[in-house]
Amino acid sequence: MRRSRIVSTGSYVPEKVLTNVDLEKMVDTSDEWIIERTGIKERRIADEGQAASDLAYEASKGALKDAHLKPEDLDLIIVSTVTGDMPFPSTACILQDKLGAKKATAFDINAACSGFLYGLYVADSFIKSGIHKRILIVGTEVLSRITDWDDRTTCILFGDGAGASIIEPSEEERGIISMHIYSDGSMWDLLNMPGGGSRNPASKNSIEKGLHFIKMKGNETFKVAVRKLEDLAVKILEENKLEPSQISLLIPHQANLRIIQAIVERLGIPMDKVCINIDRYGNTSAASIPIALDEAVRTGKVKEGDYILLEAFGGGLTWASALIKW
Ligand code: COA
Repeated sequence: MRRSRIVSTGSYVPEKVLTNVDLEKMVDTSDEWIIERTGIKERRIADEGQAASDLAYEASKGALKDAHLKPEDLDLIIVSTVTGDMPFPSTACILQDKLGAKKATAFDINAACSGFLYGLYVADSFIKSGIHKRILIVGTEVLSRITDWDDRTTCILFGDGAGASIIEPSEEERGIISMHIYSDGSMWDLLNMPGGGSRNPASKNSIEKGLHFIKMKGNETFKVAVRKLEDLAVKILEENKLEPSQISLLIPHQANLRIIQAIVERLGIPMDKVCINIDRYGNTSAASIPIALDEAVRTGKVKEGDYILLEAFGGGLTWASALIKW
């Protein structure tokens, strides 16, 4: 076995659309400000009855169908999420039950918006070591449940969705070429949800203080994200002796269009080689990259033999990349 390879993808977004104009009626903001500062026009919001595992289930069904596989064919399920159905058990176990993937082991990964690439890193290592042979990785988020809809600095940013990929060993040259994951816990306070854990357990007091909502120092996070993602992209290309022009598709985490534009300018990649869906879905955290990848596959944007570069940045802080020969 030479490499691990993504053999199929799937994704799901809830039907309900919340536009910037809708948000104008909820907080002091404007469609123009949101588009100019973030690139977001609308986002999807899960139905009351939908939890992270429900979105994950829909995305996973798509990936299984695409690969002509049955749930019993999976031997590992990794779910990346910060909005799991409940603190425990893992959303991966709930998804395993929903799918009927009786032969799979299942666990969650928490790396915020870098979660899907952290999951891919773990899956790639397990496949290369021979421990697992067929792994489902899902990024799924219902961020609307931890969004403070009175806070204009964050509520405009987030949306709900899920994306899934199935990874297998490959004897071919194509597959996952190089992966990197990084963390810097010294900046954990830039982006977090302080309530509901052992530090600030759920209580009347924690709810009154709004600790069950996302808190973000947006401007500082923005600056670190740009620097880390630019530097990482340059490093990956250098390490693999690739010119930017050899990258057929860049799939960045969709946190802010201006962050994506900064990376693209630094690399000198044209925008038509970049997957953008932030305008339609906002920031869906761990789901943003697998949703964008699935859209790229289904619309024929990615072809066999193409080099594609995936890059993520999120709370932790965490950041990560994957270079893939498709
Ligand atoms: N509508 C109108 N005005 C708003 C607003 C909104 N929704 N949100 C903030 N503002 C105002 C602020 O109050 C501030 O006003 P002031 O100058 O009078 O104080 C002004 O706009 C600028 O705020 P600032 O926070 O500096 O804006 P920004 O250009 O940094 O954009 C974000 C804010 C959140 C869009 C941006 O910082 C961002 O995308 N951050 C990073 C997100 C990210 O990468 N997350 C990590 C991965 S998930």
